[in-house]
Amino acid sequence: MKLTGNTVLITGGGSGIGEALAIAFYNKGNKVIIAGRQLEKLKTMTSNFPGMAYLSVDMTSLESISAFAKTLINEHADLNLIINNAGIMIPEDLLKAPANIETAERTVLTNLLGPIRLTSTLLPHLIEQKPSAIMMVTSGLAFVPLAIRGTN
Ligand SMILES: NC(=O)c1ccc[n+]([C@@H]2O[C@H](COP(=O)([O-])OP(=O)(O)OC[C@H]3O[C@@H](n4cnc5c(N)ncnc54)[C@H](OP(=O)(O)O)[C@@H]3O)[C@@H](O)[C@H]2O)c1
Repeated sequence: MKLTGNTVLITGGGSGIGEALAIAFYNKGNKVIIAGRQLEKLKTMTSNFPGMAYLSVDMTSLESISAFAKTLINEHADLNLIINNAGIMIPEDLLKAPANIETAERTVLTNLLGPIRLTSTLLPHLIEQKPSAIMMVTSGLAFVPLAIRGTN
């Protein structure tokens, strides 16, 4: 994968790991688009990096992902790299089941179904780009589970 000259989408690019990735890709000469729900946060971040763009998406909503993907491709037709980073990590108390179900479902929607939906929606576009790539930010918890983060 080339690390320069890409047009990169980073979901959750307004904070934490996504923010660090956005800055690193920006500094390496890529066009960077960050996305999330908190537009003010995204706007503030892009104001420090001329040319960096931001868009709104709620990864829990298929409707939001579909509208987002359309706008993204319209505004950034050369998009060729997506980094699925947006995610949540909410503590779960399994001893309080079934009260934890809301957290479990929100975690699956955000961290698993959201990236699957977004990747699938953007795949026809990415296949047309040469070269293109998809990156996933995952977690060690996928390999070594932790009781208080059961669904993660
Ligand atoms: N930090 C760690 O130790 C660690 C360890 C392993 C894995 N991870 C994973 O790495 C990723 C980033 O973690 P982080 O620590 O950098 O988290 P973070 O600082 O809390 O950032 C998460 C980002 O995801 C976005 N996001 C959350 N829910 C969203 C939704 N429904 N729709 C769109 N965007 C959403 C947030 O933006 P908005 O609030 O603007 O929507 C935020 O910018 C996550 O997937 C996390 O599970 C983190």
